[in-house]
Parts: sequence; structure tokens; C-alpha cells
Amino acid sequence: MVVAIDGPAGAGKSSVAARCAAELGFVYLNSGAIYRAVTWKALQDGLQDGDAEQIAAAARSLDLQYRNGELMIDGQRRDDELHGAAVDQHVARHSAIEAVRAMVNRRLHQIAERQDVVVEGRDITTVVFPRADVKIYLDASVETRARRRWQQQEGDLSLQQISERIIARDEADRRKTSGSLQQAADAIYLDTSDLTIAEVCDRVIHTIQNTSEYQELQG
Ligand code: DC
Repeated sequence: MVVAIDGPAGAGKSSVAARCAAELGFVYLNSGAIYRAVTWKALQDGLQDGDAEQIAAAARSLDLQYRNGELMIDGQRRDDELHGAAVDQHVARHSAIEAVRAMVNRRLHQIAERQDVVVEGRDITTVVFPRADVKIYLDASVETRARRRWQQQEGDLSLQQISERIIARDEADRRKTSGSLQQAADAIYLDTSDLTIAEVCDRVIHTIQNTSEYQELQG
């Protein structure tokens, strides 16, 4: 079974997807983390943003595995590096490379063939799994998303600076030639601005449990 979740940065996708997957016993797939892994590898190899072919080749050479819901890159967890400033700065451009998108989408399909997944990102409900069993679009106001990121950050950016970055990222995500952020016509829209993670998860899980696919899985 495939549960697909899309939405802008700070809408709560990762927390919601991870928690719902744990509650359901599904595998949690964070597609943004795979794009981040590609950027991490490209930076390790000293590649420039314009080196599209080499970045795609580096992406294909990565050994990516999910173990207990954790992304392992060449056998190791790299969570801190994936969320560092260097990766943040380059990942939007690297994730716009067609061959990189093709590699990430292929990996997501390979994993979902073998197990039940909750997968989140920007184009999961529209491009990667357009026939997902459940599609959710999570949203929240810019103010709420900026405040969440501000509270999570380890640096010293002001709320205003984070808010400006979120607006710029939204723009970049929507303008991408392929894999842009869009709400699928058949996705359930959930505004998380005034909801806790637990409240959002309850709604998502309720939706999943009501599908015939889930009921068949339960036998
Ligand atoms: O969700 P995130 O911030 O970890 O995503 C990292 C980058 O990857 C961000 O620039 C958006 C991009 N991305 C994408 O293009 N398509 C996806 N399905 C997921 C993320």
C-alpha cells in the first residue's frame, strides 16, 4: 500500500509521515532526504552546481538503503550532514536535474514494490505515485511554517530571515520545470496551522484505515 504526502517546507510532512508510518507498521520514505544525499555526495566529490551529468552519475553510484526507517548512505547515517548549511544551499538546484529526479523516483518505486510505505515530498502525489492508495496535501500558513523552522533551528537566524527563506523556497519549489509542488486534484487537503502532529496523524490514519486497500491488508 502506498500513502503519499506532499506539501511545502514546514507543513509537518516529515513528522506526520514518520509517526503515521510507525503507528501503521509501514516504512517511512523521505524523498527530500534522498535529494539531500545526492547533494551531500556531489559536494563530497567537489562538483559544481552546473556539473549535471557528474551529479547524476554520483547519484547513481550512491548505495542507499532504508534500515528501520533510517536512510543509510554507503552504509552510514548522515542526518547531520544532510541538514547542514552546505546541503541546504545546493539541494534545490541539484533536485532540478532530470536524471537525478529519475534516479530518486526509481529508488522510491523499488522500495515501495516490496513493502507498505508512507512517502513524502513535493511531487509524490502527482508524479511519483499518481495512483497512490491515499494522497494527502499538508499545508500551513507561512507564519506557522517559519515559526516551526525557527524553533527547530540550531543556528541564529531571525524569524524574519527564516520567513523570507521559506517564501523563496516555496517559489523555487513551485517553479521547477519537473517535480514542482502542486496539489493533486484527488489529494485530501489538510491545513496543519492550528493542529498538533498527533491531531494531524489521527486524521491521516483515520483516512487510511477507511480505505478498502488497508482493510484488505488487515485480512
Ligand atoms: O523536504 P526537504 O527540504 O528535505 O527537501 C530537500 C529538497 O529536495 C528541496 O529543495 C525540495 C526537493 N524535493 C523535491 O524536489 N522533490 C521531492 N519529492 C522532495 C524534495
